[in-house]
Amino acid sequence: MCMALMSLYFALTLIGLVILLTSSVSHATMTDIECLKKFKISVEDPFNYLSSWNFNNNTEGFICKFTGIECWHPDENKVLNIRLSDMGLKGQFPGGIENCSSMTGLDLSNNNLSGSIPSDISKRLIYVTSLDLSSNNFSGEIPSSLSNCSFLNVLKLNNNQFTGKIPLELGLLNRIKEFNVANNLLRGPVPYFANASVSAEDYANNLELCGKPLKACQGARKKSRVGIIAGAAIGGVTFTSLILGIILCYFARVVVKKKEDDPEGNKWAKSIKGTKGIKASCLIQYFAKNSI
Ligand SMILES: *[C@@H]1O[C@H](CO)[C@@H](O)[C@H](O)[C@H]1NC(C)=O
Ligand SMILES: *[C@@H]1O[C@H](CO)[C@@H](O)[C@H](O)[C@H]1NC(C)=O
Ligand SMILES: *[C@@H]1O[C@H](CO)[C@@H](O)[C@H](O)[C@H]1NC(C)=O
Ligand SMILES: *[C@@H]1O[C@H](CO)[C@@H](O)[C@H](O)[C@H]1NC(C)=O
Ligand SMILES: *[C@@H]1O[C@H](CO)[C@@H](O)[C@H](O)[C@H]1NC(C)=O
Ligand SMILES: *[C@@H]1O[C@H](CO)[C@@H](O)[C@H](O)[C@H]1NC(C)=O
Repeated sequence: MCMALMSLYFALTLIGLVILLTSSVSHATMTDIECLKKFKISVEDPFNYLSSWNFNNNTEGFICKFTGIECWHPDENKVLNIRLSDMGLKGQFPGGIENCSSMTGLDLSNNNLSGSIPSDISKRLIYVTSLDLSSNNFSGEIPSSLSNCSFLNVLKLNNNQFTGKIPLELGLLNRIKEFNVANNLLRGPVPYFANASVSAEDYANNLELCGKPLKACQGARKKSRVGIIAGAAIGGVTFTSLILGIILCYFARVVVKKKEDDPEGNKWAKSIKGTKGIKASCLIQYFAKNSI
């Protein structure tokens, strides 16, 4: 009797353990399947290149045979790279990629994708080392959150319709080797990359980019000239009011000295009488009242 109960107990424990393990395994791979499902739904595929993306066969590693998908291991549903260059894909930046949580490379170059890059892209592509969105029809601003994709080696955004300024924070990407934003509608200063050798060609054909390796920024020079003028003006005002303050305080001291002789004994005058600090305290009061 007791033995039967014991073995039942062990059997139940074992079953529980197996259920726990399989559920956690299927959850781990579920997320990458989810990623590709959402991806496929979110883009237009006029030439049916994604027809091999068939989600009915659920064997482990089945997504690794999909067109453009590379897995970490061929028999494990963990996406390493998505390479879908030159497939005539249309629509917006694909959805679901945040669920390919171990992906290191995304190449969507030479398609017809449009719209803006999501501003929270760094949360969707945490481990990406290579991002190639070149030769599409993407527009809007380059999101500054890309500077948080700290593993990026390659960032290609050339041949799109990006507008606005290049976020200077991109210079924080200290692993960047290749950076290209040529043929867009960008303007303003370019970021400074300590470790990458970005050439003028990587910035070519934009509206008005400046800064190394391009020509120096005019705006910056104008700004500093304005700064000098403003500084001189503020300095002048300060100097004038200092002189004025000293003069006023000199007279104030004369008045205070006269008040000292006051037989009624002015308390305020007494509290500061005869101190060498009179000039200083008066000046402080003066500047507190006339603070510029
Ligand atoms: C997909 O990603 C979202 C956002 O990170 C998350 O909430 C969701 O649980 C993920 N889906 C799966 C199946 O892991
Ligand atoms: C499911 O996919 C695996 C791996 O790609 C393949 O070997 C198997 O033949 C497929 N099964 C069916 C029913 O398509
Ligand atoms: C993009 O779409 C336009 C018209 O919709 C087409 O002429 C062009 O060839 C497409 N470009 C690519 C790279 O697929
Ligand atoms: C890009 O989009 C513009 C309109 O936003 C369109 O006129 C142009 O044909 C598109 N280019 C391509 C290559 O699809
Ligand atoms: C980068 O991430 C940090 C921490 O999550 C956040 O505070 C910061 O605003 C992000 N920077 C950008 C440019 O998104
Ligand atoms: C440049 O790269 C080296 C390693 O290659 C790294 O130690 C250094 O921090 C990088 N410099 C900057 C400014 O990121």
